[in-house]
Amino acid sequence: MTVSSAPGKVYLFGEHAVVYGEPAVPCAIERRARVDVEERADDHVRVQARDLSLDGFTVEYTGTTDDRPDVDVPRPLVEAAMGYVDAAVDQARDAADAPDAGFDIVVESDIPLGAGLGSSAAVVVAGIDAATRELGRPLPPEELADRAFRAEHEVQDGQASRADTFCSTMGGAVRVEGDDCRTIDTPSLPFVVGFDGGAGDTGELVAGVRRLREEYGFAADTVATIGDIVRCGATLLREADPDAPPSETLLGELGRLMNFDHGLLEALGVSSRSLDAMVWAARDAGAHGAKLTGAGGGGCIVALDPTPESRTALRFTPDCEDAFRAELATDGVRVETGSGDTADRGDESESSR
Ligand code: PMV
Repeated sequence: MTVSSAPGKVYLFGEHAVVYGEPAVPCAIERRARVDVEERADDHVRVQARDLSLDGFTVEYTGTTDDRPDVDVPRPLVEAAMGYVDAAVDQARDAADAPDAGFDIVVESDIPLGAGLGSSAAVVVAGIDAATRELGRPLPPEELADRAFRAEHEVQDGQASRADTFCSTMGGAVRVEGDDCRTIDTPSLPFVVGFDGGAGDTGELVAGVRRLREEYGFAADTVATIGDIVRCGATLLREADPDAPPSETLLGELGRLMNFDHGLLEALGVSSRSLDAMVWAARDAGAHGAKLTGAGGGGCIVALDPTPESRTALRFTPDCEDAFRAELATDGVRVETGSGDTADRGDESESSR
């Protein structure tokens, strides 16, 4: 058995605009997906997803595809999660030149599904890593990131950037602009995440921005302006001392850019009442800045606040289901050692392809 884990992420800046070739800066956070893979003697694939949870948000299913989900999240989200696992298996088989390899797979994640924290990218990255290692063909990080991107791209009908998968593979902060992906050394930023308990439909939200951008020149300009914000933010990060705690000045400047970015995302129609309520709760509590993270529509916001104030305020915000501090994850994908706890690989979802 091989066990790999990979982190989720928040977007410091640049979601949506990154789809059109503008830069984005996602940052990996210490919320991880863990994938156990064991090669089977036949060509079947059996997948068990469990503990896909954040306080008050749990996905569990057992039984056949028809039975799932016995959960409080929309069924399409769970189906989508399974699509990502299938795509990861295909990539691993292809990379290892083992088209008939079969696997027992257990996915555990503490990243809420579809909430803007990169849950699918983390599952795909950890899944491909574990499966290729299990087949004796571990991949270098660049190839792993590329294959994970291709898996997401396929599942999301071509509506995916390299941002999530590259960030989850490499860890830390990264800058992604089209195919140009690089890591950035940054000070550890004081992220606070607020989660409304919901999720957005990434495909629909991306399509909505695409339509606006095609219809109105000013919407295209808005997307390009997000790119300008990201360039400013990336310069600030590059010039900061990665080994020192971030200065108040740096946090203030980054926060202002986050607020600007959120305003433009709101104008592009991808925020929501609950996301706006959480953004304002954090700002009112003294956060340097706050914005939605990921596709939007519902899910998570990220604030910059070294004090406990934003988290406390979020916890008292009716629209917020959970709030937590999210440390920057310096490790990207990694092999988990000491994971001798073989999961109960009951009869969950099986396919033979
Ligand atoms: O909500 P997430 O974590 O899947 O992020 C989506 C980010 C987008 O820029 C909207 C799409 C993408 O693939 O970059």
